[in-house]
Amino acid sequence: MGEQVRDGFAELYGTAPEGVWSAPGRVNLIGEHTDYNDGFVMPFALPHTAVAAVSRRADGVLRLHSADVDGGVVELRLDDLVPGTDRTWTAYPAGVVWALREAGHPVTGADVHLASTVPAGAGLSSSAALEVVVALALNDLYELGLPRWKLARLCQRAENVYVGAPTGIMDQTASACCEEGHALFLDTRDLSQRQIPFDLAAEGMRLLVVDTRVKHSHSEGEYGKRRAGCERGAALLGVDALRDVPYGELDAALARLGDDEEAVRLVRHVVTEDERVEKVVELLRAGDPRAIGPVLVAGHASLRDDFRISCPELDLVVDTALATGALGARMTGGGFGGSAIVLAEAADVDTVTKAVQEAFAAAGFTAPRVFEAVPAAGARRLS
Ligand code: GLA
Repeated sequence: MGEQVRDGFAELYGTAPEGVWSAPGRVNLIGEHTDYNDGFVMPFALPHTAVAAVSRRADGVLRLHSADVDGGVVELRLDDLVPGTDRTWTAYPAGVVWALREAGHPVTGADVHLASTVPAGAGLSSSAALEVVVALALNDLYELGLPRWKLARLCQRAENVYVGAPTGIMDQTASACCEEGHALFLDTRDLSQRQIPFDLAAEGMRLLVVDTRVKHSHSEGEYGKRRAGCERGAALLGVDALRDVPYGELDAALARLGDDEEAVRLVRHVVTEDERVEKVVELLRAGDPRAIGPVLVAGHASLRDDFRISCPELDLVVDTALATGALGARMTGGGFGGSAIVLAEAADVDTVTKAVQEAFAAAGFTAPRVFEAVPAAGARRLS
């Protein structure tokens, strides 16, 4: 896709771009709604990427164009970028420029042409991919020297403040820092990371992504409500973040919350989910990848019953996959739609896929999009 985007830029702006970059979407293997609780996550990068051809400008103008959106070039003045005012796709790249400048980095303008293969609204971090690809391009072109984790932080700030979606740090870090063939074990408190080898094919297994086609949006209220509820739970327990509740002290903590059922459910999910991430890391390191199946299933139950962010389509994927022999399955990402992942023996993939498709048809749901996910590379310069 790099060549196409390079050519698209030249056609649009009349000169070749200074460079072309790409940044992937992600799926999260385990560790959901833990990232804004200072907890653990374990995403890996998808082969689907956002690609950007970019050149610098010196005149305080930002020109943006997307091959995926109808409409021409959008021209913005850097001095006019105001958080919360843009409700369209341009808020993501513009938000990154805003965040860089607000942090004191001398970005004086850019021409940008983008194209993305990350499905939008599918819970696969299409917006983080857009942010990170622009951040990496500007970091290179303006020689800002920012490390990847810092770029992820700036992209999160763009998303939280400029776009106005109260998300955590997982998606941007995944897009910026993942490595091919690995899942990223990330501690969201200090962004320390470990690349965990994750080669399911070598073990005779596959990981499927099932996009339910139910569109979700983080700027809508439910995500923010869960986040606020977790912060309230931490305050009630007298800890900085739910990450600070030791696994062995969960029961005592829940007892202290008494009949505050809402807090009990949110706290229980986050603390057990952190423990599940560590369990998955341990199992993979011990060379026992099949054993992660039940841990994924437990994660789904917790998101469905305690965190209450699943939906009938996601539950149907999980139930059908498990009933037809999958090793594990769960919703992935923010919830309320989007995608599920299914871990299955290679030999069972066709049966499971067919069963999910038939179950969707029988329930009268839109046909899901199913594809295999193999851990791909993080953001990089293409040319
Ligand atoms: C979305 C957010 C992430 C994270 C997940 C849930 O993808 O962008 O920060 O909170 O939901 O794990």
